[in-house]
Amino acid sequence: MYPLADGLIAARNQWYIAAWSKEVTRTPMERWIANQPVAFYRTEAGEAVAVGGRCPHRHFPLGKGRVVGDAIECLYHGFTFDRSGKCVHIPTQQQVPAVCRIPSYPLVERWEWLWIWPGDPEKADPGLIPDHRELGLLDPAYSATGGVYYPVPGRYTLMHDNLLDLSHLGYLHRSTIASDGIAEAEEVRDEGSGWLRSTRKMPNVSCPPIFAQFLHHEGRVDRAFGMKWYMPALHAGFDNFHEVAAKACTGRLLGAIKVFHAITPGRLNDAHYFFGMARTFAKDNAAVGEAFINGLRVTLVEDMSATREIETMLGSLPEMPQEILVRGDTHCVRGRRMLENMIRAEQSMAT
Ligand code: FES
Ligand SMILES: [Fe+2]
Repeated sequence: MYPLADGLIAARNQWYIAAWSKEVTRTPMERWIANQPVAFYRTEAGEAVAVGGRCPHRHFPLGKGRVVGDAIECLYHGFTFDRSGKCVHIPTQQQVPAVCRIPSYPLVERWEWLWIWPGDPEKADPGLIPDHRELGLLDPAYSATGGVYYPVPGRYTLMHDNLLDLSHLGYLHRSTIASDGIAEAEEVRDEGSGWLRSTRKMPNVSCPPIFAQFLHHEGRVDRAFGMKWYMPALHAGFDNFHEVAAKACTGRLLGAIKVFHAITPGRLNDAHYFFGMARTFAKDNAAVGEAFINGLRVTLVEDMSATREIETMLGSLPEMPQEILVRGDTHCVRGRRMLENMIRAEQSMAT
C-alpha cells in the first residue's frame, strides 16, 4: 500500500505505543492497532490489559463493554473474557466452548506510555523496546512532558514520510517552528540496525517564534536539530539553540528540547500519534512544560491537516500516479525501504 510496495501494510511483530497510561482505566477503551481491534482496561490491581476488541459471538466491539473484576464483559449478550482472552462466562449455558476466546496482547507500561506487541506474543521481548535512558526521557538534565494524542486522519506511513523529511518545517510550519534556510541546510544521515537518523546544523538563522518566546531570546541563533527513528514506532528528535558563534553551534546553549513522536498503525487509512517533549529550561515549572506543549499543538495540527489532505487525495484518485522523487527525499525513501524490509522479513518468517 502506498507509499510502500504493493501488498505491504504494517509490521506486527514489533512494539508500538498503544496509549498514554492515563488513557487506560477501569472503563474499557477501544483502539485499532495494526489493523486489529483492541480493548484496553485495568485490572482491580491497576495493571493495564490489552485484549482483542471484537467479541467472537456477534462481533460487537468489546471496548464498548464493561469491566467485571479483572475480566471484560460484552455489552451485547454478556459473554465474559478474562485477561488471557479465555471466555469464562456465557449467560445462556454452563459449558464454554474452547474456541470461544479472543487474543491477549503483551503490554508494557514504561514512563507515561503503554507499549503493545500486536503480533505473535511468543516473540514479544520487552528488551526490544527503545531504551528510555538513551532516549533522554529519564535524563536529569531535561524535564519531560507527555500526554498529547491525536488520531491521525491518514495511513501511518504518511506520518513517517512527514517525520523523515524535515524540510517541510520551512513551509508547513512557517509560522511556528521554522527557521530560515532549513530546506537548504546540509542533511547528515546515518543508520544502523533498526534505526535511521538525520541531523542539520544551521548557523546564524532566525529563532522560531515559539522558541524566542520561551527562551526569552531576541535575535538570531545557531540551531542544530535532528531526528532518530527507532523503527518502527518512535521518532526521537533534538533541537538545540545556541548564541551565534564563529564556529556553528559552539556558542552558549540558550535552550534545548527533545521531542518524541510515536506513530502507531491503526486501520488501513488511519493511525495514532503520541507526542511528548523534554526541555532544559524552566525544568521545575510544570506550567511552562504544559504551555510549551500547548504552543506546539498548532504545529501538530498542521501535520494532521496535511496528512488528512493527502489521504483524501489518495482515496479520491482513480489510480495511483507516479510521484516525483528529488534529492531531498533520500532519507525518506531510505526509511520506506527499511520499513518494507522489516515487513518482508516478518512475512518470510511466517511462511
Ligand atoms: S456479541 Fe458479544 S456477547 Fe453477543
Ligand atoms: Fe511537521
